[in-house]
Amino acid sequence: MERLTLVCLWLVSCCGMTSADRSEPLKVEEGTEVILPCSIRNNLESLLFDWKKDDKEVFMYEDGFHYNNGRGGQDPQFRGRVWHFQEELKHGNASIIIRNTKVSDSGNYTCVFPRLHPRETFHIQLAVDPILKDRTDENIPGAAPKPYVNTLDDNKDSSLLQCSVQRSSPKPRVEWWDDAGNVLPAQEPQITERDGLYDIILQTTVTKTGRYRCVATQEKIHHQIKSDEIDVFISEAGPQKGFSGRDVTIAVVITFLVTLLIVGVVLYVRRRNKNNQNRKQSPGEPSGGHLTSSA
Ligand SMILES: *[C@@H]1O[C@H](CO)[C@@H](O)[C@H](O)[C@H]1NC(C)=O
Ligand SMILES: *[C@@H]1O[C@H](CO)[C@@H](O)[C@H](O)[C@H]1NC(C)=O
Repeated sequence: MERLTLVCLWLVSCCGMTSADRSEPLKVEEGTEVILPCSIRNNLESLLFDWKKDDKEVFMYEDGFHYNNGRGGQDPQFRGRVWHFQEELKHGNASIIIRNTKVSDSGNYTCVFPRLHPRETFHIQLAVDPILKDRTDENIPGAAPKPYVNTLDDNKDSSLLQCSVQRSSPKPRVEWWDDAGNVLPAQEPQITERDGLYDIILQTTVTKTGRYRCVATQEKIHHQIKSDEIDVFISEAGPQKGFSGRDVTIAVVITFLVTLLIVGVVLYVRRRNKNNQNRKQSPGEPSGGHLTSSA
């Protein structure tokens, strides 16, 4: 019993001191945030702690001064993305949060208290899993550019769409999607290779009104890029470009109404003129009679 109590005491003291040491890496998805834990039992408000990743300065706090209130020295990779928890310092909590994580944040971090005797160092491993997204701004060689889409042929009850993806490597998967993100059946892609880069053309025939786009995906570099949307309108009367059947109907009705109005106004004015002339023609006013008799 006494031994058990001792073990418990030892466990509490041991694990209170080393709660930040982890053997298995923390895993998060790219673009999310992660808290790297590190805590000791001292009040940290007037102490120094320093977070590093390899040789890079991630976050340093010393007696109220740190990388987010003017202290220099932080590695540009982490600028504006790492924060400590000011209210937690008095409880010995030196954890930091990394926002908008990048794949390059993966690796080994240390949390160091250099002024403690003995000096304390904690190790944390972080793994940031890449997600599929548009990586155009990362300037990866061979990353597929935005697919170019156009309508090749409009028939009575279908439209032939073409997508073209230029100069990409590794070879991208090219697909036509409807606006719900479903992959549409398509023809065999036409693939050509030049200097290790692939040009791909993919055609599909759609038979329903809708919004479609072409998507190129390179799993290996976690790059996915979408074309502009292309609108297809298919009616009973066949696909229309520019004007829809409804537009035409409205135009015809408006033209008819305007014509009716003009005819009405012209008839009214004529009739009024005739009435006026008739009035002037009445006896004792010969000048009006003169005009009509000449006709
Ligand atoms: C330290 O603070 C963070 C942020 O509030 C919290 O998530 C974490 O659990 C705290 N760690 C300890 C050991 O209290
Ligand atoms: C991180 O540390 C672990 C074990 O401490 C080691 O196996 C691994 O290679 C290290 N990773 C890097 C990127 O240094």
